[in-house]
Amino acid sequence: MLVSAKEMLVKAKEGHYAVGQFNINNLEWTKSVLLTAQELSAPVILGVSEGAGKYMTGFGTVAAMVKAMDESLGITVPVALHLDHGTYEGCYKCIKAGFTSIMFDGSHYPIDENVEKTRELVAVAHGMGMSIEAEVGAIGGEEDGVIGMGECADPDECERVANLGVDMLAAGIGNIHGKYPENWQGLSFETLDAIQKKTGMMPLVLHGGSGIPEDMIRKAITLGVSKINVNTECQITFAEATRKYIEEGKDLTGKGFDPRKLLAPGAEAIRATVREKMELFGSVGKA
Ligand code: 13P
Repeated sequence: MLVSAKEMLVKAKEGHYAVGQFNINNLEWTKSVLLTAQELSAPVILGVSEGAGKYMTGFGTVAAMVKAMDESLGITVPVALHLDHGTYEGCYKCIKAGFTSIMFDGSHYPIDENVEKTRELVAVAHGMGMSIEAEVGAIGGEEDGVIGMGECADPDECERVANLGVDMLAAGIGNIHGKYPENWQGLSFETLDAIQKKTGMMPLVLHGGSGIPEDMIRKAITLGVSKINVNTECQITFAEATRKYIEEGKDLTGKGFDPRKLLAPGAEAIRATVREKMELFGSVGKA
């Protein structure tokens, strides 16, 4: 059931668990995430970066595929189709394409410009019944060409953006996209605590969810994180399972080269990763 992310995140914040956002790249990814959410009776957010949208030939294609698949698989758990790290123009494209949720990442603008653009997009998104995520303080690392330096957000700026009426707020707390380097300092719980004190019941978003130790994830949830984004870990487990299939020569026997067979172990691996994360985040049975 395609819905905005608002209600599932309000419930998560009140219930002290987090909803997983899993980024999708193609049909296999989408199917794996939807089936796992349904199996575990967990609400879920499908994240689509601008790069992934382009890869799938446009946001219109993505929205049509997700809607049709949600129906044909008989998915009854709440599913939000969400633009990840959207530009101003990208947000309007997704609003038009029929997404149910957007993220406007204005973190690279001066704060006043971020506030003004976010304010405008909040009004438009809410007018369409969509939820909207804003960002303060860049997330480190690189995702689809978007490069952040990994600063910690200023809690006062977070309060300012939260007061615009956004439905969820991404705030840098030392998290980065992609693999964490050996010398990573860990999440700044001091910053997270200060942000939650300033933003109250606002659902906070933890980007860069791949590779964060489990105890840090649990602690972040106790400090108000209600949405956790995972992308890289699904990509790695998909690639590992596909590599194993090929290295075992399974594509060389019988009809093992059939793409439906070739991609099956990777799709199963995504399901296992999504299952593991939903259990860790506490969203199982919360649909
Ligand atoms: P990872 O790729 O590090 O899991 O980050 C995902 C993310 O934050 C998407 O916005």
